[in-house]
Amino acid sequence: MNIEESLNEAVIKAEEVVKNIDTIAALNQEKANFLGKKGIIAEVMKNMKDLSIEERKQIGMMSNTAKVKIEEIFTNKAKEIEEAIINKKLQNESIDVTLPSFKRNVGSIHPLMKTIEDLENLYIGLGYNVAEGPEVETDEYCFEKLNLPKGHPARDMQDTFYIDVENLLRSQTSPVQVRTMLKENGKPIKIICPGKVYRRDADDATHSHQFMQCEGLVLGSDITLGDLKGALLEMAKMMFGEEQKIRLRPSFFPFTEPSVEVDVSCFKCGGKGCPMCKNSGWIEVLGAGMVNNNVLRMCGYNPDEIQGYAFGIGVERITMLKYHIDDIRNFYTSDIRFLRQFKEVK
Ligand code: DAH
Repeated sequence: MNIEESLNEAVIKAEEVVKNIDTIAALNQEKANFLGKKGIIAEVMKNMKDLSIEERKQIGMMSNTAKVKIEEIFTNKAKEIEEAIINKKLQNESIDVTLPSFKRNVGSIHPLMKTIEDLENLYIGLGYNVAEGPEVETDEYCFEKLNLPKGHPARDMQDTFYIDVENLLRSQTSPVQVRTMLKENGKPIKIICPGKVYRRDADDATHSHQFMQCEGLVLGSDITLGDLKGALLEMAKMMFGEEQKIRLRPSFFPFTEPSVEVDVSCFKCGGKGCPMCKNSGWIEVLGAGMVNNNVLRMCGYNPDEIQGYAFGIGVERITMLKYHIDDIRNFYTSDIRFLRQFKEVK
């Protein structure tokens, strides 16, 4: 057999050999038998030494062609084996989509949190920042600096839980006004502060010893009661619909002067009068006013240069009105049947 025939023979043999191989390891071993230093091709080439230069050139080309072919045979086989492995894996790991899946219960946002988020979105959009303060507060910040000195009769309405004589669970979010003013030190302020408050109340359908408020405070050189009305009208519209109107009635809070109680037009009867609004056409939703000069002074502000408004929204109150909830205790008892109803609320 001459060299050319031997080379062709080697290619044919390679084709035969790979047919019975089904692992990459065996394939590599076999590949070495053909193309390795002591492989079939190398053996064939040993016989070249007796040839002329011209013949060597020719045989060299032939052997290259044979090597490329054999190389290709092994590469193709390797691909084939790898594909087979993947296909087998896919088959073994295939998912039976007809099997019933695990059902994960998706929760929903708590209605009070929903209201707070709505308030934050609204007021952040109007340029307010969201401030926070501690629930364990000092008597000084919760009352004294808000113009409610010890023994003031208005403290009766806000009896709370005392840690000791000077520290208590805050009965309102208003002390965050004090904290913000002391920090800002005479500079303009525009904040809301949602949070928990506590009172020594007997729980019933409309009272809870713990509830939530959202405080607002805006101070600047030209802030008026008109601005307050605008800020609250936007809130009423966001909560109860675009057609909402609001009404300010004179009231009293030690930390504001003048003070107002704010009503929204009854969304049930549209203002005509019904049991919901006790036939008045209006529903009270919050307290507000222009920050009392005493408070400004005690918190480091000069009332001749800077003044503004404050408001305190009862988060439960507006949430109960919006979603027609008739018992405040529903918010805290974690009854899944109650909470589920808010799943679809956007
Ligand atoms: N803190 C008051 C309360 O708990 C609500 C309130 C009224 C807050 C008037 C204010 C305000 O900031 O200006 O009853």
